[in-house]
Amino acid sequence: MTHLETDTPIETGEAGALDGRALRRTLGQFATGVTVVTAAHPVTGEVVGMTANSFSSVSLDPPLVLWSIVREAKSLPVFLEATHFAINILSEQQLDHSNRFARPGSDKFADVAWSPGAGGAPVLEGVAGVFECARHAEHDGGDHIIMVGRVERFARYERPGLVFARGRYGITAEHPWAEEPTGFARVDGVPHPYDDFLIPLLYRAYSNLFSGFSVHLEEEGTSGPEMRVLAYLSFRPGSTAELVSRGSYLGDQTTDEAIAVLHGQGMLTGTADSGLSLTEAGAERLKTLFRHAERFELEQLGSVDAVEVATLKRLLRRLTDSDDETC
Ligand SMILES: Cc1cc2nc3c(=O)[nH]c(=O)nc-3n(C[C@H](O)[C@H](O)[C@H](O)COP(=O)(O)O)c2cc1C
Repeated sequence: MTHLETDTPIETGEAGALDGRALRRTLGQFATGVTVVTAAHPVTGEVVGMTANSFSSVSLDPPLVLWSIVREAKSLPVFLEATHFAINILSEQQLDHSNRFARPGSDKFADVAWSPGAGGAPVLEGVAGVFECARHAEHDGGDHIIMVGRVERFARYERPGLVFARGRYGITAEHPWAEEPTGFARVDGVPHPYDDFLIPLLYRAYSNLFSGFSVHLEEEGTSGPEMRVLAYLSFRPGSTAELVSRGSYLGDQTTDEAIAVLHGQGMLTGTADSGLSLTEAGAERLKTLFRHAERFELEQLGSVDAVEVATLKRLLRRLTDSDDETC
């Protein structure tokens, strides 16, 4: 049996019996970038812009690109009068621009930083790239008009572009199977054989990060286990020592030791058997430690792309979903 014989589509369509939504969903299987196409009226100077993912390259010589605009678009009359348009390729940080320029009617340019490009077409700040184009041709495209532009100027920035696929925004990430085999990571100069497994990777990442954070903890005279006990009791006040031990993965002995120290410092009220809670001093200490944690993350992860960090945190949260009583 070949692969194709078992490959059953979820939905299909044929001329004469096309379900528009199924057609859209199937079109959405094709991942695109997201652009904001802009133009300025040559006489009034009115500027328009709209989110478009129909952008495509056409020709290198001459340099032609296209996009298509729905005939109902409010901004269509300006695009048809303008001498130029600018294709602003949104960066992954510009999701809000995409939403804003997809909403008809509103003052789309309020609070948006831009400067006039060729023919006055707005060039937005913070984009991944931009093509300033002279209008070259228009073609009938059913309920859309296909606009072809000749690139007069372009600019590329060191920012990844925003992605749109399956009706949702995404980011570009190198497919892990496409990565060049780099060999094993090295630990103390020795090739590390377990680099493909999640748990050893998590352990090593944790241990690297934690050794940096322990400097912050020392500054506040608090140990790692003490911080975890404080954090657990902040969202589960009244827990017994047994619950704290289970929820913080510290084990009974380490938990009891941490509780004894925190009690001695006036950070906890209650007893291990009947339930423990933070005192005001305990809550204050935890707040200070969280401020350290924020600073630490900025130091450690400030140079890593913010969207990548958010993606990592989301994945880690998913992996802890079955386990929301722990910290
Ligand atoms: C991701 C995304 C891609 C879009 N792509 C297009 C497109 O290629 N062409 C188009 O006419 N409308 C597209 N739209 C819809 C327009 O942005 C929307 O209709 C906009 O309100 C038109 O602006 P206007 O009516 O103020 O001119 C897209 C919307 C989104 C969210």
